[in-house]
Amino acid sequence: MAPSVGLSEPWRIVTVESAAARAAALANFEAANAEALATYQAHGEDNRAALYANLKLTGMREAPVQLAVFCDETSAKGAGLGARTMPEMRAYSVASAISMMWLALRSDGVGLGWVSIFDAPGLARALDVPDSWKLIGYLCIGWPERISNTAELEELGWEPRIGLPEMERR
Ligand SMILES: Cc1cc2nc3c(=O)[nH]c(=O)nc-3n(C[C@H](O)[C@H](O)[C@H](O)COP(=O)(O)O)c2cc1C
Repeated sequence: MAPSVGLSEPWRIVTVESAAARAAALANFEAANAEALATYQAHGEDNRAALYANLKLTGMREAPVQLAVFCDETSAKGAGLGARTMPEMRAYSVASAISMMWLALRSDGVGLGWVSIFDAPGLARALDVPDSWKLIGYLCIGWPERISNTAELEELGWEPRIGLPEMERR
């Protein structure tokens, strides 16, 4: 029921279930994550690197349900409405649908972690999806171990939450 540009419904969802597919996805994450850590180290940002190494950035080892969500950039559905001028609206439709699913899950107490530290084309190849599918998110879904009103990145000193943004008036 999520809205989409032109009712293109461009979301394509792969449920990652087999041990082989999960191992390939985890290996892809681990390589991308190690590269990210190395970048902080290479720039001499030692505090950042230490903080980064301490973050839990995936639930791929624990989550019972794992979904790789893609956007079909070439779908004819919707006849180009809106996407002709702003093609990125297809991807935004998929991201918005994920957010709605996220809220629906949370209202039932289920947790969702959105993982984005990947070599995206490599993950698409590993999951054997069409070339026109662009990775939007890899979702780890399951019961949370802990509930907190403070974001973990804030708790661990990575970044504080600002909260309500100031609006510009025109
Ligand atoms: C677009 C997007 C990408 C994200 N990528 C990651 C990621 O790669 N790794 C990660 O740990 N969290 C990532 N997050 C944040 C977590 O999914 C989320 O903050 C986490 O599940 C904890 O939930 P909470 O924010 O409700 O505490 C991302 C969030 C969004 C919206």
